[in-house]
Amino acid sequence: MEDQLIAEEIKRLKKERNAIILSHFYTRREVQEVADFVGDSLSLCRAAVNSKADIIVFAGVHFMAESASILSPEKSVLLPVPDAGCPMADMVTVKALREEKEKHPDAAVVCYVNSSAAVKAESDICCTSANAVNVVNSIESREVIFVPDKNLGAFVSLHTDKKIHLWPGFCHVHDNISEDDIQKLKNAHPDAEFLAHPECRPEVLLLADQILSTTGIVKQVEKSDSGEFIIGTEKELFEKLKRKHPDKKFYPPSEKARCYNMKKITLESILNSLENMEYEIHVPEHVRVKAKKALDRMVEISGS
Ligand code: 13P
Ligand code: SF4
Repeated sequence: MEDQLIAEEIKRLKKERNAIILSHFYTRREVQEVADFVGDSLSLCRAAVNSKADIIVFAGVHFMAESASILSPEKSVLLPVPDAGCPMADMVTVKALREEKEKHPDAAVVCYVNSSAAVKAESDICCTSANAVNVVNSIESREVIFVPDKNLGAFVSLHTDKKIHLWPGFCHVHDNISEDDIQKLKNAHPDAEFLAHPECRPEVLLLADQILSTTGIVKQVEKSDSGEFIIGTEKELFEKLKRKHPDKKFYPPSEKARCYNMKKITLESILNSLENMEYEIHVPEHVRVKAKKALDRMVEISGS
């Protein structure tokens, strides 16, 4: 079937089933075009909570759909491709986290949303790239175990006086953006504003004009007087900004900055998801209740 026909059928089924499609900025262009809402991890959590739909089709990776299901258990949350995961989320397990907690009994656990429901359930509070500094500074404890992203954790540690125990996890997409890639782009385009995602390495972040979540990058491009930008995150956002602002110039950090898990979500898989109610996310209730506490605390401090 042609893309346009699939998109029409998706639209019809969404209405029939009272479903919405939520998408992250890193999915394919045609997927974002059928979505009701496209955003960063924090705004997607809020959209899941605020939606009146019965069904949420999550165009993103597993932890995102799981977070929506934890926050809104009365809705059916579907992930169109069951193995669309986040390798960073798999870099921390409950067992390893419990061992770390034993080593630092006075530390609170702050857990990046890029983590499993079970790890969230072991944590005191969640954060996203948009609110990590505020979340860490909001808690009482002077000591924090920050899981799983060492780069985001290192960025946070520069903006707090709390003692941060970093976890050795990372996002391969952002960690592969090198200082050399960026320095070359900056030399070639000295007037360009470099907007970097905090999952990038510390030496890359040192070169940034602004360090922002994906939504933060979109907003900064809108309000900046600059006409040129180096977009330090997954390449789909660069493509989107280029289409949206044809009067401005954009440079991608590297051709390799692609999240292949996000790209697993296709129009065909979304259509199948709505036709067959696949693949429904189920979080065991005892895990869900604890994980929800950590997510709720984050949503509370970030406002609605
Ligand atoms: P944000 O959505 O918070 O910008 O994070 C990007 C990301 O890597 C999500 O997996
Ligand atoms: Fe995970 Fe990185 Fe892909 Fe985000 S971009 S889902 S952190 S691998």
